[in-house]
Amino acid sequence: MPDDHPPQLPRTDVASLALAGLRQARKTLPAQLFYDEAGCRLFYRIAELPEYYLTRTELALLPEVAREVAARFDRPAALVEYGASDEAKAGFLLDRTHDTSPVFAAYVPIDVAAPALARLRARLAHARPALDVWPIAADFLGPVTLPRATGGLARLGFFPGSTIGNLDPNEARAFLRGVRTTLGAGARLLVGVDLRKDAAILLPAYDDAAGVTAEFNRNLLVRLNREAGATFDPTEFAHRAVWNAQEGRIEMHLQSRRAQTVRVAGETIRFAAGETIHTENSYKHTLPGFAALAAAAGWTTEQVWTDPAGLFSLHLLAEGTEAPPDSRPAC
Ligand code: AVJ
Repeated sequence: MPDDHPPQLPRTDVASLALAGLRQARKTLPAQLFYDEAGCRLFYRIAELPEYYLTRTELALLPEVAREVAARFDRPAALVEYGASDEAKAGFLLDRTHDTSPVFAAYVPIDVAAPALARLRARLAHARPALDVWPIAADFLGPVTLPRATGGLARLGFFPGSTIGNLDPNEARAFLRGVRTTLGAGARLLVGVDLRKDAAILLPAYDDAAGVTAEFNRNLLVRLNREAGATFDPTEFAHRAVWNAQEGRIEMHLQSRRAQTVRVAGETIRFAAGETIHTENSYKHTLPGFAALAAAAGWTTEQVWTDPAGLFSLHLLAEGTEAPPDSRPAC
């Protein structure tokens, strides 16, 4: 099959990531593997589904949130977006001005999807020629070094979409700590966080009537066939979404319809009938629960916004180590 786009991860990485998960007694695949070109397209379709309230609820909050967040910056700032496959959400912030000068002088989008990042850069060169854009093609969970050119700017980190829900509480805390280190003293971080709610709303969001989420889930197997020398028959695995109340998370699984054997990068992987591959966690937080998580990572909650129905939230966090300007000893 011809490849229209270069793979975002080297093939050996895809194969070794997959095998590491599939060799476990409880089989898993890392959620980061969802986002190849087909997976990104399927996620855009999910975002439009009537059942998937997350994206449209966050988008409805963003104009007002961007106004209020930008108003807190009294000098030019850099916007650093974690998991930025397009600039649609950042645009609300990049549009903000004080008098006539933009609040954000630089934009650092970080994403593993290198082709999407290249398209983003090309669009911004046309649409916002005055903006300094410094894309970083990397896993945002790893260490990130900000471009030197952003050194003199205030910093706003941006992590929308409830992508933080893919991280378990320990991983989320470690990630939030790492962001604090990357962005430095006095930084702020705006995070989109999906909220805990009735399973009757949560489950359809992850198991839609049109079957798009099922296709998104099975696309992992299609990708492994192409990029990791695997022999999955995707139709032999059923899409499952489960609300794990104990852990406060939606889980997605691919459930083997029968006992079967699959080859992955030269290895044999055996499935019992009904056995699942756990493919994603999507944690749903409470407002106090998320504030506590942020506090454990050294962030102070400055402001929280939610929609009237309380489905989704945006949290503005502040790094607390910069001495307030009036704390210098008067002599
Ligand atoms: C992009 C990680 C926020 O967990 O809701 C959508 C991904 N998975 N449907 C989410 C997803 C299934 C999504 N995030």
